[in-house]
Amino acid sequence: MTRAGLRRSLLYVPATNARALDKSRTLDADVVIIDLEDSVPPEAKDSARRAAVEAIRQGFPDKTVALRINVHGSRAWEADVRAAAEARPDIVVLPKVSGPEMVMAVARGLGERTELWAMIESCQAVLRLGDIASTAKSSSLRGLLVGANDLAAELRCRTTVGREAMAPVLSQVVVAARAFGLNPLDGPFNDFQDGGGLEIQCRHAADLGFDGKSLIHPSQIETANRAFSPSAERIAWARAVIAAFEAHPRIAVLSLEGRMVERAMHLPEAEAIAAFALRVS
Ligand code: COA
Ligand code: MG
Repeated sequence: MTRAGLRRSLLYVPATNARALDKSRTLDADVVIIDLEDSVPPEAKDSARRAAVEAIRQGFPDKTVALRINVHGSRAWEADVRAAAEARPDIVVLPKVSGPEMVMAVARGLGERTELWAMIESCQAVLRLGDIASTAKSSSLRGLLVGANDLAAELRCRTTVGREAMAPVLSQVVVAARAFGLNPLDGPFNDFQDGGGLEIQCRHAADLGFDGKSLIHPSQIETANRAFSPSAERIAWARAVIAAFEAHPRIAVLSLEGRMVERAMHLPEAEAIAAFALRVS
């Protein structure tokens, strides 16, 4: 299995935690997000940045490495962008994006090679989702990442495992991401000892259309990888759809196990699921 392009499990690691950084190389996360922002206290920003650059230089075999920099306009921001340009992580994560100009400011500093993810974690960002996502046309923005803790605090909504209050906003993030060909990526579940709660949140996120979930602890990785991979039933369905249309090359719509399937819509979906299944098998 190669993880390139997979975005199921996105593990945050504080850049100040050398032991966790080392450990993350041995874990099954698709993406390691080295954090320079909220998990790093102000007095440790410079040493954290140096540690992150060194860790990226040492490499993360078979992993996608992301660097979360500090917010645009903060004291650390410029040095973070310079460090990202030097260390070249695969992805740079931009926190607290409130509008398209923040994405473009970093895009200018990094050039086209580094993928960008914009964090959606304020009401302003939700109101401007279309404008932010549309910067993908002129930058290397490739993902919208929910900052669930900041967003819930600003909304002053109830935070439950089922996220009934947050669901409409989560769906808006998925809509904006899909409209511009970006990966919609869910925020973290803080209660890392509650495996059942994580399972519920991962399934909910996958049902809403997200490609993966932010994680804060190694114990969460396996659940996310499973939830954002196609289930055995979906893979069986996809293979049956492909076989049915192969058997009837001139038919546009047919019945499979009592359900309608259309060549134009269901065949590409089935092919994508079968291809994904091959990658993660
Ligand atoms: N990435 C990689 N390894 C991690 C890790 C992470 N995010 N969190 C914990 N580990 C490692 C620990 O280093 C420890 O390794 P060891 O057995 O080799 O010593 C092991 O997993 C068990 O850790 P545990 O004792 O259960 O957790 P903890 O009490 O040390 O840390 C947190 C708990 C929540 C503080 C920690 O998981 C963490 O910092 N998570 C990320 C927080 C973050 O980045 N927040 C910002 C984005 S929301
Ligand atoms: Mg945040």
